[in-house]
Amino acid sequence: MNKVYTKVTDQLHFFEGNDPVELAKEYGTPVYVYNERILRQRCRDLKQLVTYPKFVVDYSAKANSSLAFLQIVKSEGLEVDAMSPGEIFMERQAGFAPEEIFYICNNVSAQEMQYAVDAGVVISVDSLSQLEQLGQIAPGHEVAIRFNPGVGAGHHEKVVTAGKKTKFGIEPKYIPQVREILKKYDLKLVGINQHIGSLFMTGEAFVASIAVLFEIAKQFPGLRFVDMGGGFGIPYKKEFDEAPLDLKELGTAIDKALYQFAQEYGEQITLRIEPGRYISAECSMILSQVQAVKHNHDKKFVGCDCGFNVLQRPIMYDSYHGVEIYRASEALSEKKEIVTIVGNICESGDILAKDRELPEIFKGDILGILDAGAYGFTMASNYNNRLRPAEILIRENGDVVLIREREVLEDLLRHQIALDM
Ligand code: LLP
Repeated sequence: MNKVYTKVTDQLHFFEGNDPVELAKEYGTPVYVYNERILRQRCRDLKQLVTYPKFVVDYSAKANSSLAFLQIVKSEGLEVDAMSPGEIFMERQAGFAPEEIFYICNNVSAQEMQYAVDAGVVISVDSLSQLEQLGQIAPGHEVAIRFNPGVGAGHHEKVVTAGKKTKFGIEPKYIPQVREILKKYDLKLVGINQHIGSLFMTGEAFVASIAVLFEIAKQFPGLRFVDMGGGFGIPYKKEFDEAPLDLKELGTAIDKALYQFAQEYGEQITLRIEPGRYISAECSMILSQVQAVKHNHDKKFVGCDCGFNVLQRPIMYDSYHGVEIYRASEALSEKKEIVTIVGNICESGDILAKDRELPEIFKGDILGILDAGAYGFTMASNYNNRLRPAEILIRENGDVVLIREREVLEDLLRHQIALDM
């Protein structure tokens, strides 16, 4: 292989000695590639975040819920959150016990809630009406409540999940009504939780929000846990040496807050976080093949087979993903140029990477789209009747295994009922 532009994966030893051009040939493109060693390391980073003894990391499965992925997370001793019956189901398949699953729901039907009650998982509700609904279907049950601490954070307004402009959480001013409903249905409040938003690169907002959450918790003696939420960011601009989140500094600040809270609360209860992206983003990338290179007016477009049905983040949030270039031939890129990398979907917004300065890219090159493991495959779709890709895992010893088959055309017919014409 001719390594045209490979700084990030070289630094990470991402391919563990495998050749990305060969992987693309063997498994086809586009394909999601995972590195088991990096995934395990990210789980360990967060398990060691603080010294507080009753600290639990709930991996947020919405970021990536592939079965093999969840199995690895489970084997690292993490627990999980869930956002839907489907996530509860997948987590049970991966071996998580009901007591290791925290169902944080939002606007769900009585049937969905009943599914969670029957599955035996702890349920968090985030409105008075959903609390009332749980009381009606399962009086006397345990419950957790998601509060809105009034502080939000995140990389895009669509993913700020606390503060004044979001649908999530119960405002602390409704605590008297919460108490009334708990009493009316004899519900036992076992935990409170929050999630302020996704992708913060400094810890101030998170630390400020947990101070508010702890003040709320103090109004409810006898809780089993307080869950501080996720949102821990990763540096998407690694090729420009963007600094990672300073976990040491953040961990020290959080640790201090945890011990202080336990002292004021009078008990060392379980304190949890629920990160998704931090654990899953960096251990994965997409391999995609360049199918066409062209000029349109004054722009140069590189067209590849990774449309936004495969990776939705750029079109949805204007997200940045680093791009690498691997080449089968010995041809050299003589110059750097500004290109826009696009996919194969029928919309102009199908842009993976806009106006990037990269070594010249040729038809047939393999592109690596970095940091794709969080909200990558889980947000993939069949738009344009395209098939969702395969997923492969590079094991710690360098072996490569298929963990999800590429869809086939017949999958597009599943669940469809043709008319009898
Ligand atoms: N807990 C709750 C209740 C959440 O809603 C989320 C994410 C998390 C935890 C995990 O957040 P994380 O640690 O991954 O930031 N699709 C968007 C991100 C949406 C996040 C939704 N909630 C993206 O691709 O950036």
